[in-house]
Amino acid sequence: MIEPARIQSADIEPFDVVDLIHTKRDGGSLSTAQVNWMIDAYTRGYIADEQMAAMTMAIFLKGMERSEIRDLTLAMVDSGERLDFSRLRAADGSVKPTTDKHSTGGVGDKITLPLAPLVASFGVAVPQLSGRGLGHTGGTLDKLESIPGWRAHLSNEEFYSQLDSVGAVVCAAGAKLAPADGKLYALRDITGTVEAIPLIASSIMSKKIAEGTAALVLDVKFGSGAFMQDPARSRELAEAMVRLGTDAGVSTVALLTNMNVPLGLAIGNANEVRESVEVLAGGGPADVVELTLALATEMLALAGQPDADVAAALKDGRAMDTWRAMISAQGGDPDAAMPAPKESHVVTAERSGILVRQDALPFGVAAWRLGAGRARQQDPVQHGSGIDLHAKPGDTVTAGQPLFTLHTDEPARFERALEAVAGAFAIGDPGDEVSTGGPLIAGRVTA
Ligand code: URA
Repeated sequence: MIEPARIQSADIEPFDVVDLIHTKRDGGSLSTAQVNWMIDAYTRGYIADEQMAAMTMAIFLKGMERSEIRDLTLAMVDSGERLDFSRLRAADGSVKPTTDKHSTGGVGDKITLPLAPLVASFGVAVPQLSGRGLGHTGGTLDKLESIPGWRAHLSNEEFYSQLDSVGAVVCAAGAKLAPADGKLYALRDITGTVEAIPLIASSIMSKKIAEGTAALVLDVKFGSGAFMQDPARSRELAEAMVRLGTDAGVSTVALLTNMNVPLGLAIGNANEVRESVEVLAGGGPADVVELTLALATEMLALAGQPDADVAAALKDGRAMDTWRAMISAQGGDPDAAMPAPKESHVVTAERSGILVRQDALPFGVAAWRLGAGRARQQDPVQHGSGIDLHAKPGDTVTAGQPLFTLHTDEPARFERALEAVAGAFAIGDPGDEVSTGGPLIAGRVTA
C-alpha cells in the first residue's frame, strides 16, 4: 500500500491535465488552483503542446467564466517577471505617473508613433512594449526599424533610464515578460484558436499587467481590417479587458474604433513613420490626428491631467521634441533619409466621381504581399514597401487621377498585390452612399 506521505511528495502533480480537458470540454469551469497549475505545468513543459491545444480548443468552443479569465491572466503574469516603475520620479519628487496604450491592430495603424511622445511631453512616462507585424496588420517595431540606427531591443536598465530622461520608450518586450503567453500564443496561432475572447483578453492583459503600467488605454478595433470584424464582439472583448485591468489595479479605459477603412494615407513601414512625423509637425491626415488626440486625452486623464491641451502640444513642437529625443535615445537618426522602394506602380481612377469605398483588409493584404509585412515571424520586412493612398472615401476624383501607389523592392510582387485590391475600392456618383462603416470612434468602455 502507498503511504499518504508519499502521495504528498513534491514530485507528484496535484491535477491530471486530461481531467481538466474533460471539464472544459463538457462546459465546466476550472478552479483557481487548477488554472494556476495548468499554466505553470505548461510553461515548464510538463503539459504537452497537444494537450494544451485540446484545452485551448475546448476554451474556444465552450468559453470561460469571468473568474477563470481572471485566474488565467494572473497565472500568465506570474509565469515571468513583473516590471516596477515606482522608482521613476516626477520633477516635484512624487512617483511619475505611467500610462500606456494597446491597439488590437489594424491597417495603417501607426498611432503609437505620434502618441507616445505626445503624451510623454506632458511629463508622464509612457512604457510602450510593442510587437512586430504578422499577417496583414503591421507592427510598430517594424515601422520604427525603418529609421536608420534605431534599436528595438533595450536592457531593463536602458528602458528605465530612457523612461526617466525622455519619458517615452517604444521597444520590444523581453522574453521574461509573461513567457506562458508567448508559448500559448504560438500554439494558438497554429491550432485555429486565436479568436477566442477569453484567450485574447488574457493574452493582451497579462503582458500589460506584467509591464507594470499604472494606467492603460485600449484601442479595440472592429471592421474589415481588424482582428474582430463585428462591433458587438469587439465591445465584448473591450469589456473583458477593462475588467481584467481594473481588477489588477491598472486604471483601464477602452475606445472602440472603426477599422473598415485604412487609417491615414500610408500603409507600410517607412511611409507610416513619415506620416507620423507629419502629425507631430502639426499636420497629417485628419483621421490619424483625431485618433491620436482622443487616445492622448484618455491617457492623460488617467494619469491625472484631464484638461491637458494635447492639440497645442502637436502644434507648438513639444511632441516633436520628445519624438526626436526618443528616437535618438535608441540610436536612431531622426533626420536620416528613410528607405525608399526600388519600384512603384500607380493605380489611377478609371472615371470621375466620388470615391465611395476603400476596404481596409484588401489594402492591408496588398501591402503585406508587397513586402511590408511578413508571413513567418522570422522573415525580414522591406522597409520601403507598402501603399500610399492619394484619396479617401468621400473625396472627389477625376478620371486619370492617381488613387494609390504600390511600392516594393521586388516588382514580381505587384501582380498579387493588385489581385488583392481588385474590387476593394469603388468610384460612384455624387449623392451615392459612402461606405465607411460609421464614425472613427464608435464607443468607450470604462470599468
Ligand atoms: N495580441 C495578443 O497579444 N494576443 C492575442 O491573443 C491577440 C492579439
